Amino acid sequence: MDKQISELIGDSRLRSRIVTAETAASWIKDGMTLGLSGFTRAGDAKAVPFALIEKAKQQPLKVNVYTGASLGSDVDKMMAEAGIINKRLPFQADSVMRKKINQGEILFIDQHLSHTAELVRSDVLNPIDFAIVEAVSITEDGMIIPSTSVGNSSIFVKKARHVIVELNTAQPKELKGLHDIYEVGKQGKREPIPLTKVDDRIGTIGISVDEDKIIGIVLTNQLDSPSTIVPPDAETAAIANHLINFLRKEVAAGRLSENLAPIQAGIGSVANAVLYGLLDSEFSNLEVYSEVLQDAMFDLIDAGKVRFASGCSITLSQNKMKQVYSNLDAYRDKLILRPQEISNHPEIVRRLGLISINTALEADIYGNVNSTHVRGTNMMNGIGGSGDFARNARLTIFVTKSIAKNGAISSIVPFVSHVDHTEHDVDVIITEYGYADLRGLAPIERAPLIIENCAHPDYRPQLREYFKEALKRGGQTPHVLEKAFSWHIHYEKYGTMMEPKYQLQTQQ
Ligand code: COA
Repeated sequence: MDKQISELIGDSRLRSRIVTAETAASWIKDGMTLGLSGFTRAGDAKAVPFALIEKAKQQPLKVNVYTGASLGSDVDKMMAEAGIINKRLPFQADSVMRKKINQGEILFIDQHLSHTAELVRSDVLNPIDFAIVEAVSITEDGMIIPSTSVGNSSIFVKKARHVIVELNTAQPKELKGLHDIYEVGKQGKREPIPLTKVDDRIGTIGISVDEDKIIGIVLTNQLDSPSTIVPPDAETAAIANHLINFLRKEVAAGRLSENLAPIQAGIGSVANAVLYGLLDSEFSNLEVYSEVLQDAMFDLIDAGKVRFASGCSITLSQNKMKQVYSNLDAYRDKLILRPQEISNHPEIVRRLGLISINTALEADIYGNVNSTHVRGTNMMNGIGGSGDFARNARLTIFVTKSIAKNGAISSIVPFVSHVDHTEHDVDVIITEYGYADLRGLAPIERAPLIIENCAHPDYRPQLREYFKEALKRGGQTPHVLEKAFSWHIHYEKYGTMMEPKYQLQTQQ
């Protein structure tokens, strides 16, 4: 056996279990449930899912697929195209899979990312037949060292009937030592999670496993797919500016110190751009307790702005991947990767008092936020971890551009068409026009602030009129119910949310 490989599999008994991806895929039968590693395109099982897709061309089958979050390497796309998925949870972000979900061909459970492990642990979900997890090595005492994400791998390995390890030699083996795997134990019998600072190490460097469960080790050599983040634009830069001004106000009021509070920033282009805004700010010595660590995070570390970042996956663009992975030792004392149950745990989010920044598809005039459903019906990606953080953070901030689809859609609407984050959880809404600080305000105080500070100027008159009419009807949270979704209906019928009389006004 290749010397390098035998070094990566510390326990000699396991070395005889190396199999091809095709052999591993041949063990998977119709109706089974798989727990795959992978979180936001990072550290995903690659070879066995591909082999399974090939196998399904000869022997059609359907499986349930649980993951950490979205998969890279087009695995979600190809599994969706091959029609091999019955049920998928807890998150995805692929356009083909999204389409199949919205056509009803794939059953999708959109889950808070910290909840999946609890449901697996307590045997609520279908039992997992195979955990298939990517690793950079297996230690002498049989611990699986994950690669670029931890996600739900530890609970999948613990609960699955069998474990298949994809040993990926393309991933840097120096990742060993960056992970911190902690198991919370059963509900009702567990102790408080002993994590009081973002850089606390509370667990082990790898996933402990009963070695008899590892029935196959598949050798692979493929890097993660690079992230698809687009660079900041004028609007996202403006959003970042407003965020920084808001944070300055909090510091001036003595509610935050100069190094703020641990930051969580969500996925997507807007959240990434917002982090870039911190690069040029006066804030430094920052701490991060987040889920996905994207490009901007590493720029902030390199610039000395971020002291320490705790996450659950590293998802980078191609160039950034090269730079970071060839220089991992420089980040060793500045990074930790944890299971998503811990990175997103409400107990810790509340204890650390996070500043949580996530992206909305739309928000309404009272502060409810929709992050997932286009026009209340079609799934975009999923709630991800945004709800884990939003309910429990010290400061819950949602960012969004004020309009979408060239202005045909207003991101500020009378009533969101689906509620992911209720008005009770949302502290601040920011668009490129400004921010609305909703804390301590009653619904009728919030609406004018959101309309005047956050909505696109072209949509403000239409929003003002809605609110005025709603006020006449009275109530704690005034609405004109028959018109509450009229904006979405108007878009479906005419391709724009703007009513004709306001279209005329904006043309004048
Ligand atoms: N109605 C319909 N479509 C809308 C919309 C709205 N109100 N607002 C935005 N969109 C569309 C955009 O036009 C864009 O479409 P395209 O892909 O066809 O270009 C798409 O949604 C993405 O919008 P974009 O402005 O590029 O934002 P993004 O890349 O930052 O993603 C979310 C935004 C909300 C989709 C993404 O952040 C997400 O999935 N969030 C939920 C999960 C989450 O918050 N996880 C983090 C927890 S740690």
